[in-house]
Amino acid sequence: MRKKIAAGNWKMNLSAEEAQTLASEVVNMFQDEYTGDAEVIFSPSYPYLSLVHHLVKDNPKVHLAAQNIHQEEKGAYTGEVSAQMLTSIGCSHVLIGHSERRQYFAEDNQLLAKKIDIALKHGLKPVYCIGETLDQREAGETLNVNTTQLSEGAFHLDAEAFGDLVIAYEPVWAIGTGKTASPEQAQEVHKAIRDAIAAKYGAEVADNTTILYGGSVKPANAETLFSQPDIDGGLVGGASLKSRDFTDIIKAL
Ligand code: 13P
Repeated sequence: MRKKIAAGNWKMNLSAEEAQTLASEVVNMFQDEYTGDAEVIFSPSYPYLSLVHHLVKDNPKVHLAAQNIHQEEKGAYTGEVSAQMLTSIGCSHVLIGHSERRQYFAEDNQLLAKKIDIALKHGLKPVYCIGETLDQREAGETLNVNTTQLSEGAFHLDAEAFGDLVIAYEPVWAIGTGKTASPEQAQEVHKAIRDAIAAKYGAEVADNTTILYGGSVKPANAETLFSQPDIDGGLVGGASLKSRDFTDIIKAL
């Protein structure tokens, strides 16, 4: 059975105090108001990982993800953060391949494949992000772009290792724009992703893979998105910075 997950990507936002307030408010609301089986992931920026870990460590359904990782084990890479550092402060997950990293930091599928490998080697579960730009969608390349990012970044893994991945489909044109993919548009891509996984690893692995949708998820649209058969939760940016909104999104699962 695949997991349902609501993940909050806080990006480069919040002060330390705001990060702690947000995490503790969401954890409290989640405990008080939610009885389902969905899990939550917080993805704060590096300096706040330990602070947030302290607040979530007693709840087995709340996990911690870094927003990025370096592909090497250790060494002279000033300013970078390794997989081992992340596990040593309580991270269980890591975002890999977010479109903002692909776009602004020139991360390509080959590099991302290495990041996935080092994460898995150290027991971190990658949340591997894929998605097309508006130009690619308008050129009719949506499914091809997504399945290529998926296969070049992750299909070198064997089935067991692939089973530790969460996939996040985030159409670039829907990120931070207020434009959400319609439930039908998102479902079409999610199904194509699951079909590609089934063709590579078989139906059981595909069925067990959690595929999140990201791109302007809000309390008002979460329920219709999450009701699609191949959408297993959300990777949420802006709305994850407000405890009430993010908890309502969790509850939509
Ligand atoms: P928004 O929810 O702000 O559109 O961001 C989505 C995202 O990039 C999550 O990783």
